[in-house]
Amino acid sequence: MKKNGLIYFDNAATSYPKPSATLEACKYFTNKVGANPGRSGHRLSVEAGRIAYDARASVAELFNIEDPLQIIFTYNATYAINMALLGLLNPGDHVITSSIEHNSIARPLRYLEGQGVELTRVSVDSKTCQVDPGDFKRAIKPNTKLIAILHGSNVTGAILPITEIGKIARGNDVLFLVDSAQTAGAYPIDVESMNIDLLAFTGHKSLFGMQGTGGLYVREGVNVRPLIRGGTGSKSEEDIQPNFMPDRLESGTPNTPGLAALAEGVKFVLTEGILKIRSHEEGLIKQLVDGLSAIDGVNLVGDMTLDCRLPVVSFNVKGLLPSEVGQILDEKYDIMVRVGIHCAPWAHQTMDTYPKGTIRTSLSYLNESDEVERFLNAVNEISKKRRT
Ligand SMILES: Cc1ncc(COP(=O)(O)O)c(C=O)c1O
Repeated sequence: MKKNGLIYFDNAATSYPKPSATLEACKYFTNKVGANPGRSGHRLSVEAGRIAYDARASVAELFNIEDPLQIIFTYNATYAINMALLGLLNPGDHVITSSIEHNSIARPLRYLEGQGVELTRVSVDSKTCQVDPGDFKRAIKPNTKLIAILHGSNVTGAILPITEIGKIARGNDVLFLVDSAQTAGAYPIDVESMNIDLLAFTGHKSLFGMQGTGGLYVREGVNVRPLIRGGTGSKSEEDIQPNFMPDRLESGTPNTPGLAALAEGVKFVLTEGILKIRSHEEGLIKQLVDGLSAIDGVNLVGDMTLDCRLPVVSFNVKGLLPSEVGQILDEKYDIMVRVGIHCAPWAHQTMDTYPKGTIRTSLSYLNESDEVERFLNAVNEISKKRRT
């Protein structure tokens, strides 16, 4: 997309721009509604509650969740993952994860390890960027409570085989938590066919919502301890937390303007259709990968096979630090990318790009081919200049 001539290729961090309907919904809520949902009982509060429910129902439709009330809203994927991990695991429990996780899973798991939770990390192959689902099966022990993994890597762009891993989890009575921060809205997700018990999602990336929105789906019957307790607008006469969903896990005033935008972002995805979104992004990925592969001095990180990757491509330019390339792209070419570790040290240790990291280009459905072309010309010039 062109915004004042700028090219924004940092959509894995947060998507920009957003579809206009999301901005309009946010504005409508702020100007015309304004009240807390589920609290006061007057018409504006009822309208706020309707908007929050609309967001829940839209998310439920996208992920094939039967009961929208099993979805709780949080402020981002990180918050949702923490709620799941800290609310489920106890000292003595065993949890299995992968060696390519974002810090949103890595840090709470390292913390829990210090509290007596046993942790196994299944290795990701540095060439294919993939895991062997059989490794998860082999890692299961009598005290294994949970498999917690990301669906798509924010460093390599690889999509992990969560359907196979979900089958293994369900077949062994192990709970399955999926971090869909990079895939929700960009790749099909079905909590039923994928046997997902807990799905953490974020609103501000491929669902095109605002920053400060995200959520967690919790399968009925899965007992997640609340991290936060307080006002829910329900059972106000009682000083103990309600036990029903979503109130059990959702306390305090939510980001309702953000939820209004999220509902429209999800509807945008549903209307366009994941297959159309995917097809457009696959075209961009091919152009990007083919173009970068042809530039002398550019090293792409990981496998570039199209059918198992997101429009997230990491690379390095010989003789230059990622930060130097990022600065030139920004200052000379008006192109925004992310450089460094991308909050995922495990992933860079796995891919042998630690500690310098990579230059990460991440596209969205709203990017176009001419922007990729301009980006490729810029990288070519930067790399050529370095060589001469
Ligand atoms: C794989 C993965 N998990 C979790 C997160 C955290 O998402 P949020 O910023 O919504 O907390 C990110 C964000 O970059 C991510 O890429």
